[in-house]
Amino acid sequence: MALVSPSILSADFGHLHDEVRNVIDLGADWIHVDVMDGRFVPNITLGPGITAAVAKSTNGDALVDVHLMVVQPTNYVQAFRDAGADQITVHAEACTHLHRAIQQIKASGAKAGVSLNPHTPPEVLDYVLDELDLVLVMTVNPGFGGQSLIEGVLPKIERIRKTIDGRGLSTLIEVDGGVKVNNAHKFVNAGAHVLVSGSGVFKAEDRGAAIAALKRA
Ligand code: DX5
Ligand code: ZN
Repeated sequence: MALVSPSILSADFGHLHDEVRNVIDLGADWIHVDVMDGRFVPNITLGPGITAAVAKSTNGDALVDVHLMVVQPTNYVQAFRDAGADQITVHAEACTHLHRAIQQIKASGAKAGVSLNPHTPPEVLDYVLDELDLVLVMTVNPGFGGQSLIEGVLPKIERIRKTIDGRGLSTLIEVDGGVKVNNAHKFVNAGAHVLVSGSGVFKAEDRGAAIAALKRA
């Protein structure tokens, strides 16, 4: 069964607590928090304050999965950990010293993830993969919810999964962008363990059915 991490980017921010509780009650495993700074990506979303509110709402019932789409993410790792992030993912493209960034996340007590934009080859992970709890493969260009899957990125998931299995690692692969009930099998068949879905869950007519279908994909 795939794990499902609904992105609160597509939730109703006026009722964030109820939105978080609703998807957890319907079976969400993780809660995905998309942090954007208007520099790394052309959009601005939320910071540690909202993340703290989300962490309080999860109340330990779902992993708080923070995706930092910001420049110089190491400046903010501790703030998001203090806010209650269980896992912190930085972009390889945003880190001059990626290995150091990973060590900083782990030293904070959070699980460590690295995300790759659609154009970034998987080889950038060759010398850090053994340190990682998570690889987050972007299947859209980050910045906005509700975009369509870039199909050409799917083989990258397969390649990373082969390397993880070949090295005997327990690193999870999470996919993010354009994941919907009707295409989720493509990500899982390629080797993904965790499905982020924003609009695919929060805008679904039947959220419970959507989460259940994503898990079975
Ligand atoms: C995109 C974000 C995603 C986004 C996914 O930059 O990282 O997590 O919220 O939204 P959907 O599932 O609607 O493509
Ligand atoms: Zn995300």
